[in-house]
Amino acid sequence: MTHSQILGTGAYAPKRVLTNRDLEEMVATTDEWIASRTGIKERRIAAEGEDTSDMAVVAARHALAMAGCRAEDLDMIIVGTISADMPLPSCAVLVQAKLGATRAFAFDISAACSGSLFALSIADRFIETGAARRVLVIGAELLSRLVDWSDRNTCVLFGDAAGAMVLGPTSDPARGLLSFHLHTDGTAADILNIPGGGSRHPQSAEVLAANMHKVHMNGREIYKYAVRVLPAAIQEALDANGLDVSAIDHVVSHQANARIVESVLERVGVPIEKCWLNLDRYGNTSSASLPISLDEANRAGRLKPGDLIAMMAIGAGMAWGSALMRW
Ligand SMILES: CC(C)(COP(=O)(O)OP(=O)(O)OC[C@H]1O[C@@H](n2cnc3c(N)ncnc32)[C@H](O)[C@@H]1OP(=O)(O)O)[C@@H](O)C(=O)NCCC(=O)NCCS
Repeated sequence: MTHSQILGTGAYAPKRVLTNRDLEEMVATTDEWIASRTGIKERRIAAEGEDTSDMAVVAARHALAMAGCRAEDLDMIIVGTISADMPLPSCAVLVQAKLGATRAFAFDISAACSGSLFALSIADRFIETGAARRVLVIGAELLSRLVDWSDRNTCVLFGDAAGAMVLGPTSDPARGLLSFHLHTDGTAADILNIPGGGSRHPQSAEVLAANMHKVHMNGREIYKYAVRVLPAAIQEALDANGLDVSAIDHVVSHQANARIVESVLERVGVPIEKCWLNLDRYGNTSSASLPISLDEANRAGRLKPGDLIAMMAIGAGMAWGSALMRW
């Protein structure tokens, strides 16, 4: 059967750097608290007038250039995002127009920090069935406009960025995306959400006054949840492919907190050196986190043909999963 493989990767982060020291001037926090609790030292903040689709397009152009693919050749564009330019239409249609990807149909996936992993699984299925030959998957997130900058529990964690991947078919059964294991637990919807601005609490003066249009989070519960379910998701992927954990050459992970990644990998039995970590520079960039990590590892020459890459992500929902890929 035809597999899908990643032909090109790209990333973009806005120029403006907001350091932990800068945050000390804004809320009651310290560089020491943020760095020791999360591993984050700084994050990027989008410029005024810079939208999610603008970041997505820059990342996409890099990925297309690496893949040697023209925008006009794309069959499909999927953007994983919960911070689209506007509630309607999707971010993906704006990306399609800006790229001039005239043949591609385009839509967003709402799976929070797992958005790009979930989107990747859809791209893989379309390619596997022959329904698409060139697919652009993007994770793009502009969370700096969705966090409450007076809430130290959340504002220190997130950053803005976009990552992109171009996929196409391969007839080599030993290469490409091998499996996806995706999960959702909607009973945990209240531990990370934006409660206002939707159909339950439409935008209103009351919603704004109560900050219901901003990210609300129970960090401790998310932490416990992540370190419980992610090791199982990696193990599930290994079992499904008849592989031992020692076969993993690299881990490319959504990065919300360095301690979560360290704890998960310790439980699975993968040395942390196998994981490309960059949240010290970007913070939690949600759906962008996984593709920007893949792009950095790729451009650093870290990924060799035939290497086994384990991917994992978790986000609001809760929604999480793993994928295995032979580079
Ligand atoms: C948010 C997180 C870093 C908090 O770390 P923690 O060790 O669990 O810290 P706690 O929640 O126990 O808070 C400890 C104290 O620090 C305080 N605190 C919270 N944010 C702070 C900040 N930025 N600076 C200083 N103190 C802070 C809390 O108010 C609390 O004070 P209290 O004990 O007086 O109430 C951690 O729980 C985490 O990363 N969770 C996962 C979040 C996540 O991944 N979200 C996105 C999902 S994709």
